[in-house]
Amino acid sequence: MPSVNDVPRHIAMIMDGNGRWAKQRFLPRVAGHKRGVDTVRAMVKACISQGIEYLTLFAFSSENWRRPADEVSFLMNLFFTALQSEIGRMHANGVRLHVVGDLQAFEPRLLALIREGEALTANNTCLTLTIAANYGGRWDILQAANQLALAHPEKVGHYTEADLIPHLVTAYAPEPDLFIRTGGEQRISNFLLWQLAYSEFYFTDTLWPDFTDTALSEAIRSYQQRERRFGRTGDQIKSAGVLPAPSL
Ligand code: IPE
Ligand code: IPE
Ligand code: MG
Repeated sequence: MPSVNDVPRHIAMIMDGNGRWAKQRFLPRVAGHKRGVDTVRAMVKACISQGIEYLTLFAFSSENWRRPADEVSFLMNLFFTALQSEIGRMHANGVRLHVVGDLQAFEPRLLALIREGEALTANNTCLTLTIAANYGGRWDILQAANQLALAHPEKVGHYTEADLIPHLVTAYAPEPDLFIRTGGEQRISNFLLWQLAYSEFYFTDTLWPDFTDTALSEAIRSYQQRERRFGRTGDQIKSAGVLPAPSL
């Protein structure tokens, strides 16, 4: 079948299934998280080679604090050590790093490392990698609304979508074209609620540590066959060709 769409500019992923991957192997859940870092590295590489401009990964949700304390603390340490070991490689590969979420909750040394990595890679242009950590879609919309209200109190009651968008934490990126969730669940789990309004969704049972660049290509192929209508009719799309989302 011929492709309808180009490769997505922006892919957002919920990296799910680490715990089950470990359980299947009679390993502690955290072994799955550790292995999941290898998949992150592979996805960054694959996105660069496929010409994807933006990759956004959900690493830790605002609800994940509800997990057992030892798992949370393992995840925080893993985030620190993975950043420490990967930032140099990312920089060498032209990756621009952003970490988004309510970062004040993190240890000062982790926050400092994040800021250092973002500053080092700020001018890279190959791939923008966003890690969503202590992120929640509701939190994002709310913090944007609060910022907007502070910036423009005179306009309260008359804000538009275009007023709010620059205050979302992903304002530097276009909206995701493709959303992928591994691990079999078919839900958003409070990820990018605003930004996913017109994304194409792709769910796979493959657990995150088993997700490969071939699996990514399959998801992209599926995306390329979809007709993105943004509210219009199929006939309108066929006569006009690929159209951007109305809000863009
Ligand atoms: C996703 O894997 C990683 C995080 C939420 C940090 P899970 O840990 O949710 O894995 P499952 O869903 O229990 O298998
Ligand atoms: C979503 O996965 C969050 C991340 C992958 C970081 P969860 O495993 O936490 O989602 P639920 O709890 O099953 O919805
Ligand atoms: Mg899960």
